[in-house]
Amino acid sequence: MSESSTGGSYGKAGFTRRRFIIGTAGVSAVAALGGTVVRAPRAVASGAPSGPPTTTLPLPTTTKPEQLLLTWGGDPATEVTVSWSAPGTVAQPAPTLAVSAQPITAHNPGRLVKMPDPKPLDVTQRYGEAASVSFTDGLNGQTTYFYHVQLKGLKPGTRYYYQVTDGASEPSTAGSSFETAPSGRAKFRFSSYGDLATPSWDLNTSGNIWHESCDNSWYAVTAIESPGDGKGAPLFHLLNGDLCYANLDVDNAPGVWRDFGNNVARSAANRPWMPALGNHECEFGTDTISGHPGKAAGGIAAQGAAGNYWNGPYGFGHYLSRFLLPDNGVTNWDGNRLRGNFYAFQVGTVTFISLDADDVIYQDGAANHVIDTANTPPETTTTGASIPNGTTTYTRFYTGGLRSDAKNNSLVPDYASGQPNLQTIWLERTLARARRDPSVDMIVVFMHQCAMSTSVPGNGSDLGIRQAWLPLFDKYEVDLVLSGHEHDYERTYPVRGYDTGAHGTVAAPNPGQTKGAAVDTRRPSVAATEPHDFNGTPAWNTAEGTVYLVLGGGGTNGPTNTYGTDAADDKPQAKVITTRNAVVGSEAAGFVKNGADSIEDAPWSAAINPADAYGYSIFDVDPGRHRGETTITFQYFAIPAVTNEAGSAHDGTTTLPTQPTEKFVFGRRVGRR
Ligand SMILES: [Fe+2]
Ligand SMILES: [Fe+2]
Repeated sequence: MSESSTGGSYGKAGFTRRRFIIGTAGVSAVAALGGTVVRAPRAVASGAPSGPPTTTLPLPTTTKPEQLLLTWGGDPATEVTVSWSAPGTVAQPAPTLAVSAQPITAHNPGRLVKMPDPKPLDVTQRYGEAASVSFTDGLNGQTTYFYHVQLKGLKPGTRYYYQVTDGASEPSTAGSSFETAPSGRAKFRFSSYGDLATPSWDLNTSGNIWHESCDNSWYAVTAIESPGDGKGAPLFHLLNGDLCYANLDVDNAPGVWRDFGNNVARSAANRPWMPALGNHECEFGTDTISGHPGKAAGGIAAQGAAGNYWNGPYGFGHYLSRFLLPDNGVTNWDGNRLRGNFYAFQVGTVTFISLDADDVIYQDGAANHVIDTANTPPETTTTGASIPNGTTTYTRFYTGGLRSDAKNNSLVPDYASGQPNLQTIWLERTLARARRDPSVDMIVVFMHQCAMSTSVPGNGSDLGIRQAWLPLFDKYEVDLVLSGHEHDYERTYPVRGYDTGAHGTVAAPNPGQTKGAAVDTRRPSVAATEPHDFNGTPAWNTAEGTVYLVLGGGGTNGPTNTYGTDAADDKPQAKVITTRNAVVGSEAAGFVKNGADSIEDAPWSAAINPADAYGYSIFDVDPGRHRGETTITFQYFAIPAVTNEAGSAHDGTTTLPTQPTEKFVFGRRVGRR
């Protein structure tokens, strides 16, 4: 390795390099960082399954509440939504929630909320304070149940205790406590990563291994409850998409979601977990894209052939059943309310915006049946659903169209079509409001796919995000953009605007492209390569440019932390997706799917981590004393891959470092006098 530096050394010298490669290869870096070996508590298990099941496995018929999940309401200082699930395919008999500012006991039963009878997911409807939602998976027919209580009128910065009960003749209970967000200018801590997946067999409630199972997923949740710096758990967590990869286990999506729900509940029962939609939240099913049952003659088996591939609205049925998120107030052109698809909330002096980049990216989704073998049969499931070979999900523009603004190489809402892109309109309105608001100093956007990534085995940078949203991030000076999608870590320099001209080259042409042709990738312009100093910590001024962080190292078993360099000059190089990736072939010959079509030199790439794919980020927000003085101290803690990461059992231990691999301050006044 030509450049390296031990983590935890934050000397100025390390940051004069154009590209600071953190850590050193192998486990020696971990030893240098210090840390504690963690072994998860394990049930006595007879042995690991050999791999993911290929038939639908039954879910429990018990009703003991589990998968406890907290999310913020519209105002995190006064509104928290408490959610939970039944374990399997039987609704809870008479579920209730009790909540109180004091521990719930026989003498303090708290305020009791009785849950209504469950109704099938219907996102055209508004939800009351208490909602019970059922969702029937389109591929395996299992119906699962989710319960949501939207608590409002809470006191800021206050701990509340809650307990949920199934109402069975011998009732089962579960509960925890949480803290509401502080009001006004206050310090707080949040955390983030994406691409969490599920642990393996004996760390899963079910005892199964799923397609992306890896025990790093277990340790990632552990780390949020006990961050390495010893300064305590965050107020809330941002989960940047690709939650559990249920769409890869087509016979058992509800079972995968259940194991995900129980793994994250170890933290999400105690503090809000705020998700963003990723490509693996979009699932095959038998509905139309709006979520209505397909009407193809011949029943479920004919739905695939009729083009009905969606599990609930836009394939997001499980996600929208499980999470009742802040309401953006937007109703889609098809009549579905888009609550939870994208949303915003404010904590202290920071506005947080969750986006669904599936709506603007060129690349396709992650529900795929694309096999390069001749005469591959359709993907069939327990219920007889039938997905032909060569099928991929594609939801681009599902909230309306964007049109090209050639002068700026951008995409803008297409009003002339009569159905302009509602998410992008909402985004601009939300950003403008936040920047006008004197109580907001900084804006943090989180989404799944990447505007900038140099991962080689990963997906690459998507021009669609650059064209649709980076002009808005520039105009309203978004401070940080967090993503996942790549299963690794990467940080950019602050960027603002773009380098005009064609800085890309077509490398893997889609139909209509020519290999070697120049292409304008709207490459973001580097605003600064030298950090300022903020009380001894390197600091980036985000008023000069937006910093993009790829934080996709939650815990999947498919790390992508190998990064591109231009062989000619050894400088960073990125794959860029500039057109829809083509699926080409035929039933008779089989199908193949193209990856990213182009490459560009990537001077914006400031840091990568070839040593460890996994990790979590801790952000400490300090509002300072006056308007505009907010700083966010960022620490990235790498987590080494578990032992036996790729073994048949995917079962192992790891070390949770006590020192961050990177630490920076972000602020809009840093470096100014
Ligand atoms: Fe992922
Ligand atoms: Fe992804």
